[in-house]
Amino acid sequence: MIENRNIVPFVDLNFQNTQIKEEVLNDLNDLVVNSRFILGEQVSIFEEQFADYCETSQCIGVSSGTDALTIAVKSLSLNPGDEIIVPANTFVATAEAVVHGGGVPVLVDIQEDSYNIDPELIETSITGKTKAIIPVHLYGKPADMDPIMDLAKKYNLTVIEDAAQAHGALYKGKRVGSIGDIGCFSFYPSKNLGAWGDGGAIVTSDSLKAQQFRELRDHGSTKKNVHSTIGYTSRLDAIQALVLNKKLPYLDEWNQLRKDSSQIYNDQFALDNTNIVSPKYKEDEDHVYHIYAIQVPPASRDTLQDHLNESGIMTGIHYPNPIHKTKAFNYIKGSYPVSEEVSTKILSLPMYPGLQPKQLKEIVKLIKTNLK
Ligand SMILES: Cc1ncc(COP(=O)(O)O)c(C=O)c1O
Repeated sequence: MIENRNIVPFVDLNFQNTQIKEEVLNDLNDLVVNSRFILGEQVSIFEEQFADYCETSQCIGVSSGTDALTIAVKSLSLNPGDEIIVPANTFVATAEAVVHGGGVPVLVDIQEDSYNIDPELIETSITGKTKAIIPVHLYGKPADMDPIMDLAKKYNLTVIEDAAQAHGALYKGKRVGSIGDIGCFSFYPSKNLGAWGDGGAIVTSDSLKAQQFRELRDHGSTKKNVHSTIGYTSRLDAIQALVLNKKLPYLDEWNQLRKDSSQIYNDQFALDNTNIVSPKYKEDEDHVYHIYAIQVPPASRDTLQDHLNESGIMTGIHYPNPIHKTKAFNYIKGSYPVSEEVSTKILSLPMYPGLQPKQLKEIVKLIKTNLK
């Protein structure tokens, strides 16, 4: 047992915050003195730098990842009944955004080894009403984008990447978010790039789309009293942009620390022959481990989680219910066996920059002892 209860939280942001806190508080003082709370310099700086980072020409800061996705869907000007393909295993926001944006979510099952949408199952779900595909780079692992882009081209579909969990990840050398037509990010505090509250961004290299997003996030307007369309109040908050401006320069370094920790977990799990499945990594991708999820036998998962909890190690399940098993979406009938099975086996272990090798090793030891 690890000494001191609660010694390993599921996420700990102190390591990151200590590095930026003083600078944030200094700049915050200027922001307050100038009362630049809505859009303004901090948001513009962030948009320019994040577009650069994502290798897109445009970034539009919005108030959450869900809004980024909703605005992306809304920009498609869907007709009633138009469909958008989303993975069955994702955070509920991906499907919610489709509905908020006026579309019908059509679920497609996932691959058991990547947890991402199975490209081989997409084509049979495409109908005359399909307008877009939203691959999710779940846990920070890039979805297999090449076959998805091929299908999008074949059927003239828009690809909206849900990169809410994958800031900085690479697919065949390309930044996620820049591969499809539109990329959506969340800056929820615990994300790889997290604000000190809610925030989100849309990236694209299509300047007409970017203009549409700028209008949609701000009451259909980019010019005072000119409202070209019906929009939202969904601007990235200036204070959050300020925090993100301080954090962005550290993103690659912090992602590397996550990757190092994942490597230690993987190596420790591989030492003995156990029935634990650790995450799979492909040579042509850069997985940024927002979540480090293992699979264990379903019969042992919940007791293992309870035991870890009692020993002071906090874990999570991402996600206990695939979309069609949530109350909100249980009207969606269909069979998504891989998502359903995976949801009974997965367990997310502590993962954040600042985790120590000793802690990681002790966590693995405890899991192995418990599963014997
Ligand atoms: C895959 C995915 N999509 C969308 C979102 C929504 O982001 P937000 O919480 O910023 O609205 C999240 C946030 O957890 C997410 O994990």
